[in-house]
Amino acid sequence: MLSAAVILTLLAASPASSYSFERSIENTFSGHLTRRDPEELLNSTLWPAPAANGGKAWTKAFAKAKATVAQLTPEELFNLTVGLDGRCVGNTAPVPRFNIPEFCFGDGPAGVRDVEGVSQFPGELTTAATWDRDLMYRRNKAMGQEFYDQGIHIPLAPVTGGPLGRSPLEGRAWEGGFTDPYACGEASYQYVTALVDSGVASVSKHWVLYEQELNRNPHGLQNKNDSWPGGTQLPVSSNIDDKTMHEVYMWAFAEAIRAGTTHLMCSYNQINNTHSCSNAKSLNGLVKTELNFQGAIMSDWGAHWDTTPSMYNGMDISMPGSQLDSLLGDFWGDMVEMINNGTVSEDVIREKVIRILTPYYHLGQDVKPLPDFIYNTIGPPYVNDTAGYRNVRKSGTADLIKEIGMSSVTLLKNTGGLPLKKPKRVAVLGNDATDNIYGANSCGATNSACLINNLNGTLTIGFGAGSAYSPYIVTPLDALKQRAFQDNTEIQAMVADSNSSTAEAAIATILPLSDVAIVFVNRWYGRGMDALSLDLTGDADFLVAQAVNYSSNVVVVIHATGVVNIEKWADHPNVTAIVAAYVPGQESGAGLVPVLYGDVSPSGKIPWTWGKSLDDYPPNGIVTDMVYSPQSNFTEGVFIDYRWYDKNNITPRYEFGFGLSYTTFAYSKLTISKKGSKDTTSIMDTAEPFVGWDGSNSLYDVLFTASVKITNTGNYTGSEVAQLYISIPEEGQPIRVLRGFDKLKDIKPGESQTATFAIRRKDVSAWSTVGQHWYVPNGTFTIYVGASSRILPLNTTWTP
Ligand SMILES: *[C@@H]1O[C@H](CO)[C@@H](O)[C@H](O)[C@H]1NC(C)=O
Ligand SMILES: *[C@@H]1O[C@H](CO)[C@@H](O)[C@H](O)[C@H]1NC(C)=O
Ligand SMILES: *[C@@H]1O[C@H](CO)[C@@H](O)[C@H](O)[C@H]1NC(C)=O
Ligand SMILES: *[C@@H]1O[C@H](CO)[C@@H](O)[C@H](O)[C@H]1NC(C)=O
Ligand SMILES: *[C@@H]1O[C@H](CO)[C@@H](O)[C@H](O)[C@H]1NC(C)=O
Ligand SMILES: *[C@@H]1O[C@H](CO)[C@@H](O)[C@H](O)[C@H]1NC(C)=O
Ligand SMILES: *[C@@H]1O[C@H](CO)[C@@H](O)[C@H](O)[C@H]1NC(C)=O
Ligand SMILES: *[C@@H]1O[C@H](CO)[C@@H](O)[C@H](O)[C@H]1NC(C)=O
Ligand SMILES: *[C@@H]1O[C@H](CO)[C@@H](O)[C@H](O)[C@H]1NC(C)=O
Ligand SMILES: *[C@@H]1O[C@H](CO)[C@@H](O)[C@H](O)[C@H]1NC(C)=O
Ligand SMILES: *[C@@H]1O[C@H](CO)[C@@H](O)[C@H](O)[C@H]1NC(C)=O
Ligand SMILES: *[C@@H]1O[C@H](CO)[C@@H](O)[C@H](O)[C@H]1NC(C)=O
Repeated sequence: MLSAAVILTLLAASPASSYSFERSIENTFSGHLTRRDPEELLNSTLWPAPAANGGKAWTKAFAKAKATVAQLTPEELFNLTVGLDGRCVGNTAPVPRFNIPEFCFGDGPAGVRDVEGVSQFPGELTTAATWDRDLMYRRNKAMGQEFYDQGIHIPLAPVTGGPLGRSPLEGRAWEGGFTDPYACGEASYQYVTALVDSGVASVSKHWVLYEQELNRNPHGLQNKNDSWPGGTQLPVSSNIDDKTMHEVYMWAFAEAIRAGTTHLMCSYNQINNTHSCSNAKSLNGLVKTELNFQGAIMSDWGAHWDTTPSMYNGMDISMPGSQLDSLLGDFWGDMVEMINNGTVSEDVIREKVIRILTPYYHLGQDVKPLPDFIYNTIGPPYVNDTAGYRNVRKSGTADLIKEIGMSSVTLLKNTGGLPLKKPKRVAVLGNDATDNIYGANSCGATNSACLINNLNGTLTIGFGAGSAYSPYIVTPLDALKQRAFQDNTEIQAMVADSNSSTAEAAIATILPLSDVAIVFVNRWYGRGMDALSLDLTGDADFLVAQAVNYSSNVVVVIHATGVVNIEKWADHPNVTAIVAAYVPGQESGAGLVPVLYGDVSPSGKIPWTWGKSLDDYPPNGIVTDMVYSPQSNFTEGVFIDYRWYDKNNITPRYEFGFGLSYTTFAYSKLTISKKGSKDTTSIMDTAEPFVGWDGSNSLYDVLFTASVKITNTGNYTGSEVAQLYISIPEEGQPIRVLRGFDKLKDIKPGESQTATFAIRRKDVSAWSTVGQHWYVPNGTFTIYVGASSRILPLNTTWTP
């Protein structure tokens, strides 16, 4: 392990090239004038830490925290700010004098990680594909309850646009959802309020610009390469301009803070060549001043790289501190001595603890203590879970997981393959249809290495710290069989999933006898590992290639953590339907099969642009340069995902927001009501500056409302996600940005429902880097409403 001193020396000696980078970046990125050297970003005099005041929602808790903190000794302050060994993935020490317990930090955000017997929820990606705010809320409410029952005060969830999905190769983008700041912000708002309503903390992560796994380099684990001084490599630096920061990457965090998130987690990457957890402009400036965040900021595990800058620049909790023998860097270990000898001001540390205890009191964790920690997250044996897992199926949570799965299933192509109409014989192909031959939790679900040549079975979740064990999995094959029994259907499954003559012979035998062949394919990634390409895993393309030779009715179901390349077969006439089912969690088959059979019409829509090729996305999404200090220049600016495709007139395979139904919908009567209303959704107020502030109005006031009539013109009951896009009349703005969505549920044939969209001041604003404020540009705004980012049958205009 490298000592702190060595690391600091390394940092001090860090590449001179970063300075010239900063100088030239000024000319590269338009619209911002101030030069920011890494050393300036470390200067808390330039971006001082504002004192917390509890905001409008936490007044009482703040007063209580302030009173407690005033009485704490340096040892007690230390106990609450620095991690140490314990039973959870992160732990702080207790303060017995005030009955403050050890705080248990536990990985999310797909379930309580590394605990057996809890629920495996659908990924945030899957939940995003439902476009259903109610399901987003209910998912995290149920999950929050499970964290609570396990004695976890501080779940490390939700992912809040870090990663946002700048590159489709980002391995852990599935932990978040939409590749659009507005939609990601809407989801974040629901996730945060739901966790807080369950009595646990909400850690919005990862602040910020954490858009690649390669070279994220946690301290202590960073890449080793003897040709670099000290044998270490710095985390990649995300270099970004101020406008993109505000309009794209900060947006969802602003929503999380408005929703009352209690914690933020600073990320592994550097920002402008300054560690994210030490960047005063980013933490003191953007988070605590501009967004007026009143809670605490913790480091990601190994994202903490220094002692003094991080203390002054906004970080509040050092994780995991001395845990794991200080492997990841215990930079605040001498805090007590530093306070006592005056190296650090005691007030600076008190301020941190106020921010730590305010949420604790606000959540009522002092008056309604959580059950004791009852498991060991650091390796086996895992559980002794007494909290009622055996009730997972009874509690309603399993039904909720199934419902999310069902509502997320996205029909991408349908030339008649679906819905299935009581086929006589069904062929099922692909290992993704069935169980992992060694058991679902033997690999894939967490960090545990998988057995070589294992057939991993159906993909229900990505891997890494954002994963969760499944108590069981209802595989697609399980659910298809149940259905087949009802319908008296014969079913044959070929799940060997190997590119072999035996598999080919089996396909050649089974398929000609079948009315339909359902081929299951997948691709998985996770924390710490970016995809190398958009290719499907294993022999998926082989399976489809074989299937289309022997069946003219091939339905392909894709379980994937992100965009995959399906160009080899997407247009093949024998592929009669393509379905995306993402990572659905433990009830996989139970949610999918009712959609395949038409009990429920598909209503999911893709939460990102499904491109045809990696080359169609902005270049340099993942920086692979193996240099001492890798640089990722976010030169595409605000033009990520569909904004890039629109700007460059690129045709994707499927556009952002796209998804078919078994029925059809007609859009009509787009109307705008200019009657605005006061902001009622800010649980906490941000302090984002905007032009026209009069002391009582808000950036989140509703300026106008749009509504549209949607009629089911087909023969199936169906749900529709109506989307609203706006063209903001200002230079440098995308052609259109998403600024509203509304999912209308269960519209019967011939019936209509009305979708409404409340458009807030921020939704029609641009960020001025010169004025450092939001403003509503003059001019005519075009408002589009439709079924996807490119199916926009209706438009109208609005002027401020
Ligand atoms: C990033 O941008 C800087 C400034 O324009 C440039 O010097 C540097 O080469 C770029 N780095 C990469 C990896 O593109
Ligand atoms: C921080 O900035 C202030 C104001 O510009 C300056 O006086 C001070 O020297 C800087 N401190 C460091 C350590 O660079
Ligand atoms: C700090 O935590 C330790 C456990 O790590 C505990 O033994 C000690 O009493 C706590 N210190 C104070 C002053 O409360
Ligand atoms: C990063 O550098 C750019 C270019 O100098 C600047 O506009 C931006 O505000 C900086 N952001 C942060 C968080 O340091
Ligand atoms: C204060 O204590 C810290 C931590 O032990 C030490 O690094 C530093 O040199 C001390 N400073 C003074 C002025 O004694
Ligand atoms: C779990 O419970 C069993 C008996 O109930 C006990 O023997 C075992 O030590 C416990 N394991 C852990 C990790 O607490
Ligand atoms: C199963 O997963 C492991 C990684 O967990 C991977 O190494 C292996 O290739 C996978 N097997 C198949 C057939 O995809
Ligand atoms: C489609 O499948 C049928 C078998 O049902 C096969 O004869 C035909 O060649 C296939 N079509 C194409 C274009 O591959
Ligand atoms: C080590 O760094 C050198 C120089 O940048 C590079 O050529 C080499 O590929 C690196 N090796 C590894 C194992 O990363
Ligand atoms: C709806 O059903 C009617 C009557 O069965 C049929 O004529 C019509 O073609 C169907 N419409 C669609 C869009 O399938
Ligand atoms: C809009 O027009 C008004 C009146 O001409 C002007 O005062 C204002 O500065 C303009 N605002 C912007 C953002 O250009
Ligand atoms: C608005 O809709 C009308 C009618 O469909 C269409 O002709 C027009 O091109 C649309 N306007 C824009 C700006 O897309």
